[in-house]
Amino acid sequence: MEDYLLSMNGICKSFSGVQILKDVHLEVTAGSVHSLMGENGAGKSTLMKCLFGIYRQDADEFFLEGKAFNFSDPKHAMEHGVSMVHQELNQVTHA
Ligand SMILES: Nc1ncnc2c1ncn2[C@@H]1O[C@H](COP(=O)(O)OP(=O)(O)OP(=O)(O)O)[C@@H](O)[C@H]1O
Ligand SMILES: [Mg+2]
Repeated sequence: MEDYLLSMNGICKSFSGVQILKDVHLEVTAGSVHSLMGENGAGKSTLMKCLFGIYRQDADEFFLEGKAFNFSDPKHAMEHGVSMVHQELNQVTHA
């Protein structure tokens, strides 16, 4: 696991009792590019939001260079070099 820049080893996430992510495994080496593909509603955005600290997964953790890690929020993720290009943009309604 320490050979990977990023890895996940069984990520699970449910919303209101409906399981969206079930035992997701992904391993990413440094300098590689991956495409996460799946049908609409498969859970791609949910997985990335768990990684980025927007949602907290129900089970298991992310690993950065072999160290277990869960970002508490997007600021925390960006401080550790993880960023996200969002599929849907939200307006800032309060300054
Ligand atoms: N905050 C939420 N509360 C409840 N259900 C949610 C929430 N976010 C996502 N879902 C549900 O989780 C499932 C996965 O959604 P997600 O947006 O992760 O899919 P996706 O693979 O990114 O789809 P798309 O290809 O349309 O972008 C969908 O059924 C969606 O309705
Ligand atoms: Mg999506």
